[in-house]
Amino acid sequence: MDFGTVTPLVYLLSAVLFIFGIKRLGHPETAAKGNRLASVGMLLAILATLLDRQILDFTWIIAGLVAGGLIGLVMAKTIKMTAMPEMVAVFNGFGGAASGLVATGEYLRIMDMGGTLAIDAGVSIMAGTLIGAVTFSGSMIAYGKLQGFVTGNAVSNPFVRLLAILLAAFAIGSAVYLVGFGGDLPFYWSLVGSALILGVLFVIPIGGADMPVVIALLNSYSGLAAAAAGFVLENNALIISGALVGASGLVLTNIMCRAMNRSLVNVLFSAFGAGTASGVTGDDGDKVATSIEAEDSAMILGYASQVVFVPGYGLAVAQAQHKIRELADLLTARGVNVKYCVHPVAGRMPGHMNVLLAEANVPYDQLCEPEDVNPDMENIDVAVVVGANDVVNPLARDDASSPIAGMPIIETDRAKTCIVIKRSLSVGYAAIDNPLFYKENNRMFFGDAADALGLIAEEVKQL
Ligand code: TAP
Repeated sequence: MDFGTVTPLVYLLSAVLFIFGIKRLGHPETAAKGNRLASVGMLLAILATLLDRQILDFTWIIAGLVAGGLIGLVMAKTIKMTAMPEMVAVFNGFGGAASGLVATGEYLRIMDMGGTLAIDAGVSIMAGTLIGAVTFSGSMIAYGKLQGFVTGNAVSNPFVRLLAILLAAFAIGSAVYLVGFGGDLPFYWSLVGSALILGVLFVIPIGGADMPVVIALLNSYSGLAAAAAGFVLENNALIISGALVGASGLVLTNIMCRAMNRSLVNVLFSAFGAGTASGVTGDDGDKVATSIEAEDSAMILGYASQVVFVPGYGLAVAQAQHKIRELADLLTARGVNVKYCVHPVAGRMPGHMNVLLAEANVPYDQLCEPEDVNPDMENIDVAVVVGANDVVNPLARDDASSPIAGMPIIETDRAKTCIVIKRSLSVGYAAIDNPLFYKENNRMFFGDAADALGLIAEEVKQL
């Protein structure tokens, strides 16, 4: 068979499958199909590449596929939903490292053959090396911050910034020199070293709280590094998929920044959360938060006509997705109109709540967004906030000096009654107090989200 003609067509088909796959990822109902579609595209691209290159010995390739496939399978099956950002960080890092290694391999091959770097190959190799190395070390630091073995505090040290700027200038200067004046091995290794340190210095100053945004940005970088590797290998499928990852990573970064009402520059350079520690008990001063128990909660919910559940990070921690569905089903069976309102940055990663609710088979027509609920909030009988904090904090709307000022929120404080389920008055991710807890129409249900929802469900059954 003439693979010279077939391969580009298969690559084209893969690209189409990637694009339709990404399109379908835009809605929870079609996301799983989208994922499968894109996976088929990737499988086709891999098969076409392997057959096209007239490989004589598949031993190492098969060993790599089996080892990588097994590691991926075990990681995907065992990872906890709350640790998903860490896993994505590791994947981005490995993607960056793979692209950097491809670029390095090609550079060493050209040097070994005593050849000179053509401008186009040189630019691709240097871009792949630089972006790949920054992505790798930056992602490892992001992983460490989320895992806790690298400080999660934001570091606002001007020396670190200055050093990063100098290193960036050195790395880019080295890359330009290597392309312009040809091979110089020690110089190439110093480029690799400075790019690795640059990745560390890029992520170290940013607080652990902002890691999901950094990871989305690094995801975009890993795509750019892959596209550069695609140019190095003259492989169109890799160029296309790299460009798609690069662009979608940037779009995602932008969506996350907008949902927090912060600019990317603010996320990267403002040392958000520096000096504040999450988990500090909220400042209750002389304000009083009124608590509620399961029996009263069940009475209010069971006789309501409109109920909105607002899930947040605590739902993920408690793994309470099945319990929330159980309670919602009991209420629906009693004729209560139930909705789940999902904030775009609730939890710790994009789509965090959607994934959890989908796992519990929550009907898609019960899902809605803040802009669907907020205008009608006065008519909601009960808003049940389950392990959410920042995304329902009225300070974002009412206090222009608040660190989360301007962040769109779900305005549960305007519902007739609001019940907040969480273990204490502790702060959330943004480490700020929440006046919602002390409002007259608010009741605090203190406890683990899964336990609390279970207790309320038991009481609803008794009504
Ligand atoms: P948070 O504001 O972080 O609040 C979560 C609350 O869950 C905590 O206050 C905690 O209170 C409670 N909680 C923890 N474990 C619990 C359990 N087992 N049972 C019940 N409650 C529990 O969460 P949110 O409202 O979802 O907001 C997300 C935050 O993350 C926002 O600030 C957002 O900007 C930020 N962020 C999100 C993303 C993405 S993409 N999702 C990206 C970057 C930043 P207790 O300790 O009192 O229980």
